[in-house]
Amino acid sequence: MTFKPAPWPRALRSTHWYSGTSRDTIYHRGWMKNQGWPHDLFDGRPVIGILNTWSDMTPCNGHLRELAEKVKAGVWEAGGFPLEVPVFSASENTFRPTAMMYRNLAALAIEETMRGQPIDGAVLLVGCDKTTPSLLMAAASTDIPSIVVTGGPMLNGYFRGERVGSGTHLWKFSEAVKAGTMTQEEFLEAEASMSRSSGSCNTMGTASTMASMAEALGMALSGNAAIPAVDSRRRVMAQLTGRRIVQMVKDDLKPSDIMTRQAFENAIRTNGAIGGSTNAVIHLLAIAGRVGVDLTLDDWDRLGRDVATIVNLMPSGKYLMEEFFYAGGLPVVLRRLGEGGQLHKDALTVSGQTIWEEVKDVINHDEDVILPLERALTTQGGISVLKGNLAPNGAVLKPSAASLHLMVHRGRAVVFEDIDDYKAKINDETLDIDETCVMVLKNCGPKGYPGMAEVGNMGLPPKVLRKGITDMIRISDARMSGTAYGTVILHTSPEAAAGGPLAVVRDGDMIELDVPNRRLHLDISDEELAARLAQWKPTHELPPSGYAWLHQQHVQGADTGADLDFLKGCRGNPVGKDSH
Ligand code: FES
Repeated sequence: MTFKPAPWPRALRSTHWYSGTSRDTIYHRGWMKNQGWPHDLFDGRPVIGILNTWSDMTPCNGHLRELAEKVKAGVWEAGGFPLEVPVFSASENTFRPTAMMYRNLAALAIEETMRGQPIDGAVLLVGCDKTTPSLLMAAASTDIPSIVVTGGPMLNGYFRGERVGSGTHLWKFSEAVKAGTMTQEEFLEAEASMSRSSGSCNTMGTASTMASMAEALGMALSGNAAIPAVDSRRRVMAQLTGRRIVQMVKDDLKPSDIMTRQAFENAIRTNGAIGGSTNAVIHLLAIAGRVGVDLTLDDWDRLGRDVATIVNLMPSGKYLMEEFFYAGGLPVVLRRLGEGGQLHKDALTVSGQTIWEEVKDVINHDEDVILPLERALTTQGGISVLKGNLAPNGAVLKPSAASLHLMVHRGRAVVFEDIDDYKAKINDETLDIDETCVMVLKNCGPKGYPGMAEVGNMGLPPKVLRKGITDMIRISDARMSGTAYGTVILHTSPEAAAGGPLAVVRDGDMIELDVPNRRLHLDISDEELAARLAQWKPTHELPPSGYAWLHQQHVQGADTGADLDFLKGCRGNPVGKDSH
């Protein structure tokens, strides 16, 4: 840790808008007074933008306006000037074709919202899956002092005495309906029991994973990730976050001081330990690209290889975020990583302390939720990065959610050209498929869907499900919900729509998966593969205009984070020209 706080007092960027008596200044400041702000609030104190992803259409963030009030209280207490700013909110469960297509649009809009306005420091008020990475990407590109506070997970769901995990049980229940072991009425009852309080998904899905990533990166106060949305301590966390950002502005503690290579390495190992979502791979690569850290897919494989998954949460394990909080939450996991030599202890956090100083004395209150090493869910919990002629740039698999007996397998490909082809064929009893086959889904990557939908964990055919089989190897260029499970190979790069080898797999080809040796192989000759690729022609249509056009023109591959090519990098926070 080499951070040295800046001297205080000094002029902040907001003084370029609010200080003095020029015509321009009066324009910026005078109109603000229509909200009843006294003149002395424009005296050079830190102006804190509370970037709020609240929306009635983002149910996981539906409670964030209340939380914003607590953030404001903290900012006032510390001598700052809080201003709440609504920002683009990409809801996972509402946006079509997929929220992922809008992550980059949100990051672009929020970056300009931060840079174009008199914001000295930002509180990133986030929750649902894409809201956390999009705001972190914006913060990284502006390098304005920023701190994350998440909305927190929902309380446990219960259906007929059994814990119901967001998403995880949705897949289970929908397969049970398909297999005829659950009625439609039971399904509706279960659905209602799944989401019974404010908050984000209560499993270790993408929202909980990204909250954990923010904390492991050092971008949130210690303990933030697991506090349930409705727990009073979530509101305390919001207030403390408001207090803290004011001091961060005074010290000039910026995202680039915190999100270093060491911080990303800590986050990758944390992801293995918590059994986190594969979506974290894409988001961390994109955030690193914004802040100028040269992170690669190979880093994921190298750093995660020997990390044991010790958090016993769905989808890999048994419990939910509520129990994780009661057990001590992420600080306990970070302490374990530190004791095992798997944490850069001197990585700086938003608190101004190192990550080790934050966690070294925490206690595990439940060893069935945060497991001792000898009872780890898997000793190789990190994301496995597979390569081979089918995925020259890589593909990912989450071992903690996969089936051990399928980790080395050779099977016949059953190909679906796109998601519509899959939907048209999967329930057909004459489909030539059994549990030894490898299901291959094309054209669901960043360009292909477009937006890389979470369809990689495609459901099994009913005739296989009826045999009691619950897992088969599935390969695609899609993503998978962090709440999902199975031997599912994702993010295959280059994607089919960009002419990757996935595009030329045919029904009946043999595919070999060898996870221990990180190999994914299409068993045809090099000559045959080259001939097929030479004949390949794009099948997807380019939208004629609008954001979808921009996205498809500029989106990069999943192997580098699926950001837009022209958004990579940090553009800083120059105050720019005056507006009048
Ligand atoms: Fe919003 Fe899971 S759908 S957090």
